[in-house]
Amino acid sequence: MSKLAPSLLSADFSRLGEHSELVSKAGADYLHIDVMDGHFVPNITFGPVVMKSLDKCDTVPYDVHLMITDPDKYATEFVTEKTEFITVHQEACTHLHRTIQGIHELGVKAGVSINPATPISSIENVLGDVDLVLVMSVNPGFGGQKFIPVALDKIKELSKIREEKGYTFLIEVDGGVSLDNAREISELGCDILVAGSQVFGAEDIEKRVKDFKKEIA
Ligand code: DX5
Ligand code: ZN
Repeated sequence: MSKLAPSLLSADFSRLGEHSELVSKAGADYLHIDVMDGHFVPNITFGPVVMKSLDKCDTVPYDVHLMITDPDKYATEFVTEKTEFITVHQEACTHLHRTIQGIHELGVKAGVSINPATPISSIENVLGDVDLVLVMSVNPGFGGQKFIPVALDKIKELSKIREEKGYTFLIEVDGGVSLDNAREISELGCDILVAGSQVFGAEDIEKRVKDFKKEIA
Protein backbone atom coordinates (compact mmCIF):
# COMPACT_ATOMS: atom_id res chain seq x y z
CA MET A 1 0.00 0.00 0.00
CA SER A 2 1.32 3.43 -0.95
CA LYS A 3 0.56 6.90 0.32
CA LEU A 4 -0.73 9.88 -1.63
CA ALA A 5 0.70 13.40 -1.52
CA PRO A 6 -1.35 15.85 -3.58
CA SER A 7 0.83 18.65 -4.92
CA LEU A 8 -0.49 22.10 -4.08
CA LEU A 9 1.20 23.45 -7.21
CA SER A 10 -1.98 22.62 -9.11
CA ALA A 11 -4.36 23.88 -6.42
CA ASP A 12 -6.20 27.18 -6.78
CA PHE A 13 -3.77 29.55 -5.02
CA SER A 14 -6.61 31.86 -4.07
CA ARG A 15 -8.16 28.96 -2.14
CA LEU A 16 -5.05 27.24 -0.83
CA GLY A 17 -6.36 26.64 2.70
CA GLU A 18 -9.69 25.33 1.51
CA HIS A 19 -8.10 22.99 -1.04
CA SER A 20 -5.53 21.75 1.47
CA GLU A 21 -8.27 20.86 3.94
CA LEU A 22 -10.37 19.26 1.23
CA VAL A 23 -7.68 16.79 0.12
CA SER A 24 -6.67 16.13 3.72
CA LYS A 25 -10.22 15.23 4.67
CA ALA A 26 -10.63 13.09 1.57
CA GLY A 27 -7.76 10.80 2.64
CA ALA A 28 -4.50 12.33 1.39
CA ASP A 29 -1.51 11.36 3.53
CA TYR A 30 0.68 14.43 3.01
CA LEU A 31 0.47 17.86 1.40
CA HIS A 32 3.24 18.10 -1.18
CA ILE A 33 4.63 21.65 -1.10
CA ASP A 34 6.55 22.61 -4.25
CA VAL A 35 8.94 25.48 -3.57
CA MET A 36 10.53 26.94 -6.72
CA ASP A 37 12.94 29.84 -6.85
CA GLY A 38 13.26 30.73 -10.54
CA HIS A 39 16.96 29.71 -10.43
CA PHE A 40 17.10 25.97 -9.94
CA VAL A 41 13.91 25.60 -12.00
CA PRO A 42 12.34 27.97 -14.52
CA ASN A 43 9.32 28.82 -12.37
CA ILE A 44 8.56 30.62 -9.10
CA THR A 45 5.90 29.42 -6.69
CA PHE A 46 5.73 30.38 -3.04
CA GLY A 47 7.93 30.51 0.04
CA PRO A 48 7.70 29.81 3.75
CA VAL A 49 5.29 32.64 4.54
CA VAL A 50 2.61 31.16 2.32
CA MET A 51 3.35 27.62 3.51
CA LYS A 52 3.11 28.67 7.16
CA SER A 53 -0.27 30.28 6.53
CA LEU A 54 -1.58 26.72 6.15
CA ASP A 55 -0.57 25.91 9.71
CA LYS A 56 -3.87 27.18 10.99
CA CYS A 57 -5.79 24.89 8.64
CA ASP A 58 -6.77 21.34 9.49
CA THR A 59 -4.43 19.39 7.21
CA VAL A 60 -2.19 16.36 7.00
CA PRO A 61 1.60 16.86 7.43
CA TYR A 62 3.76 18.70 4.89
CA ASP A 63 6.08 17.04 2.43
CA VAL A 64 8.27 19.99 1.37
CA HIS A 65 10.01 19.71 -2.00
CA LEU A 66 12.67 22.40 -2.30
CA MET A 67 13.54 23.15 -5.91
CA ILE A 68 15.90 25.94 -4.97
CA THR A 69 19.62 26.58 -5.43
CA ASP A 70 20.45 27.35 -1.80
CA PRO A 71 18.57 24.87 0.42
CA ASP A 72 21.10 25.22 3.28
CA LYS A 73 20.12 28.83 3.70
CA TYR A 74 16.34 28.41 3.58
CA ALA A 75 15.49 24.92 4.89
CA THR A 76 15.03 26.17 8.46
CA GLU A 77 12.24 28.50 7.35
CA PHE A 78 10.15 25.55 6.21
CA VAL A 79 10.05 23.86 9.60
CA THR A 80 6.74 24.01 11.40
CA GLU A 81 4.96 21.51 13.61
CA LYS A 82 3.41 20.05 10.49
CA THR A 83 6.61 19.55 8.50
CA GLU A 84 7.36 15.86 8.08
CA PHE A 85 9.92 15.87 5.23
CA ILE A 86 12.21 18.47 3.71
CA THR A 87 13.61 17.24 0.42
CA VAL A 88 16.48 18.84 -1.47
CA HIS A 89 17.82 18.18 -4.95
CA GLN A 90 21.11 16.34 -5.39
CA GLU A 91 21.79 18.66 -8.34
CA ALA A 92 21.51 21.74 -6.10
CA CYS A 93 23.80 20.56 -3.28
CA THR A 94 27.56 20.92 -3.36
CA HIS A 95 27.89 19.26 0.03
CA LEU A 96 24.89 16.93 0.01
CA HIS A 97 25.84 15.00 3.13
CA ARG A 98 26.19 18.22 5.11
CA THR A 99 22.85 19.49 3.84
CA ILE A 100 21.12 16.29 4.94
CA GLN A 101 22.73 16.53 8.36
CA GLY A 102 21.56 20.12 8.60
CA ILE A 103 17.95 19.15 7.89
CA HIS A 104 18.09 16.43 10.54
CA GLU A 105 19.41 18.99 13.01
CA LEU A 106 16.23 20.97 12.39
CA GLY A 107 14.28 18.02 13.80
CA VAL A 108 12.57 16.89 10.58
CA LYS A 109 13.05 14.02 8.14
CA ALA A 110 15.40 14.58 5.22
CA GLY A 111 14.85 13.63 1.61
CA VAL A 112 16.99 13.78 -1.50
CA SER A 113 15.61 14.13 -5.01
CA ILE A 114 17.08 13.25 -8.39
CA ASN A 115 16.04 14.64 -11.78
CA PRO A 116 15.29 12.30 -14.68
CA ALA A 117 18.84 12.68 -16.06
CA THR A 118 20.55 12.08 -12.70
CA PRO A 119 21.61 8.50 -11.90
CA ILE A 120 21.07 6.73 -8.60
CA SER A 121 24.84 6.33 -8.28
CA SER A 122 25.06 10.07 -7.51
CA ILE A 123 23.20 9.57 -4.22
CA GLU A 124 24.49 6.11 -3.37
CA ASN A 125 26.68 7.39 -0.56
CA VAL A 126 23.82 9.08 1.29
CA LEU A 127 21.19 6.35 0.96
CA GLY A 128 21.93 5.21 4.49
CA ASP A 129 21.39 8.74 5.81
CA VAL A 130 18.18 9.88 4.16
CA ASP A 131 14.58 9.19 5.15
CA LEU A 132 13.23 9.64 1.64
CA VAL A 133 14.36 9.43 -1.96
CA LEU A 134 12.23 11.48 -4.35
CA VAL A 135 12.47 10.21 -7.91
CA MET A 136 11.48 12.91 -10.39
CA SER A 137 9.45 11.48 -13.23
CA VAL A 138 9.32 14.85 -15.03
CA ASN A 139 11.85 17.65 -15.26
CA PRO A 140 10.95 19.83 -12.28
CA GLY A 141 9.32 23.20 -12.75
CA PHE A 142 5.76 22.63 -13.86
CA GLY A 143 2.71 20.51 -13.23
CA GLY A 144 0.86 18.63 -15.94
CA GLN A 145 3.87 17.11 -17.74
CA LYS A 146 4.15 13.61 -19.13
CA PHE A 147 5.59 10.79 -17.00
CA ILE A 148 9.17 9.86 -18.04
CA PRO A 149 9.47 6.04 -17.80
CA VAL A 150 13.11 5.99 -16.64
CA ALA A 151 11.64 6.67 -13.19
CA LEU A 152 10.19 3.15 -13.13
CA ASP A 153 13.67 1.60 -13.44
CA LYS A 154 14.92 3.88 -10.68
CA ILE A 155 12.13 2.83 -8.33
CA LYS A 156 12.98 -0.83 -8.98
CA GLU A 157 16.68 -0.25 -8.43
CA LEU A 158 16.16 1.75 -5.25
CA SER A 159 13.84 -0.87 -3.89
CA LYS A 160 16.47 -3.53 -4.54
CA ILE A 161 19.30 -1.51 -2.94
CA ARG A 162 17.11 -0.81 0.08
CA GLU A 163 16.45 -4.47 0.59
CA GLU A 164 20.03 -5.59 0.02
CA LYS A 165 21.56 -3.02 2.35
CA GLY A 166 18.82 -2.92 4.95
CA TYR A 167 18.18 0.80 4.46
CA THR A 168 14.96 2.39 5.65
CA PHE A 169 14.37 5.32 3.28
CA LEU A 170 10.96 5.72 1.64
CA ILE A 171 10.68 5.99 -2.13
CA GLU A 172 8.55 8.77 -3.60
CA VAL A 173 7.74 9.58 -7.22
CA ASP A 174 6.76 13.00 -8.52
CA GLY A 175 5.47 14.09 -11.93
CA GLY A 176 2.95 12.77 -14.42
CA VAL A 177 1.25 10.45 -11.95
CA SER A 178 -2.32 9.59 -12.96
CA LEU A 179 -4.99 7.00 -12.28
CA ASP A 180 -3.60 5.11 -15.28
CA ASN A 181 -0.10 4.54 -13.89
CA ALA A 182 -0.58 4.84 -10.11
CA ARG A 183 -1.10 1.14 -9.47
CA GLU A 184 1.94 0.08 -11.50
CA ILE A 185 4.13 2.62 -9.70
CA SER A 186 2.81 1.53 -6.33
CA GLU A 187 3.40 -2.15 -7.04
CA LEU A 188 7.02 -1.48 -7.97
CA GLY A 189 7.71 -0.50 -4.38
CA CYS A 190 7.02 3.23 -4.39
CA ASP A 191 5.84 4.37 -0.95
CA ILE A 192 4.53 7.84 -1.72
CA LEU A 193 2.97 9.06 -4.96
CA VAL A 194 2.77 12.79 -5.65
CA ALA A 195 -0.06 13.92 -7.91
CA GLY A 196 -0.83 17.52 -8.80
CA SER A 197 -2.85 18.24 -11.91
CA GLN A 198 -4.60 14.87 -11.75
CA VAL A 199 -5.93 15.69 -8.29
CA PHE A 200 -6.67 19.42 -8.42
CA GLY A 201 -7.66 19.41 -12.08
CA ALA A 202 -10.48 16.98 -11.37
CA GLU A 203 -14.04 18.19 -11.34
CA ASP A 204 -14.59 16.39 -8.04
CA ILE A 205 -11.31 16.70 -6.13
CA GLU A 206 -12.48 14.71 -3.14
CA LYS A 207 -13.58 11.79 -5.29
CA ARG A 208 -10.29 11.88 -7.21
CA VAL A 209 -8.30 11.56 -3.97
CA LYS A 210 -10.42 8.58 -3.01
CA ASP A 211 -9.99 7.01 -6.46
CA PHE A 212 -6.21 7.39 -6.20
CA LYS A 213 -6.21 5.83 -2.75
CA LYS A 214 -8.17 2.86 -4.06
CA GLU A 215 -5.69 2.33 -6.90
CA ILE A 216 -2.71 2.27 -4.54
CA ALA A 217 -4.32 0.45 -1.63
C1 DX5 B 1 7.10 19.46 -10.61
C2 DX5 B 1 6.63 19.34 -9.19
C3 DX5 B 1 5.54 18.39 -9.01
C4 DX5 B 1 4.26 18.77 -9.76
C5 DX5 B 1 3.62 17.49 -10.21
O1 DX5 B 1 8.24 20.21 -10.65
O2 DX5 B 1 7.70 18.94 -8.35
O3 DX5 B 1 5.25 18.15 -7.66
O4 DX5 B 1 3.36 19.51 -9.02
O5 DX5 B 1 2.53 17.82 -10.99
P1 DX5 B 1 1.81 16.74 -11.88
O6 DX5 B 1 1.28 15.70 -10.96
O7 DX5 B 1 0.73 17.54 -12.54
O8 DX5 B 1 2.80 16.20 -12.86
ZN1 ZN C 1 7.21 18.22 -6.28
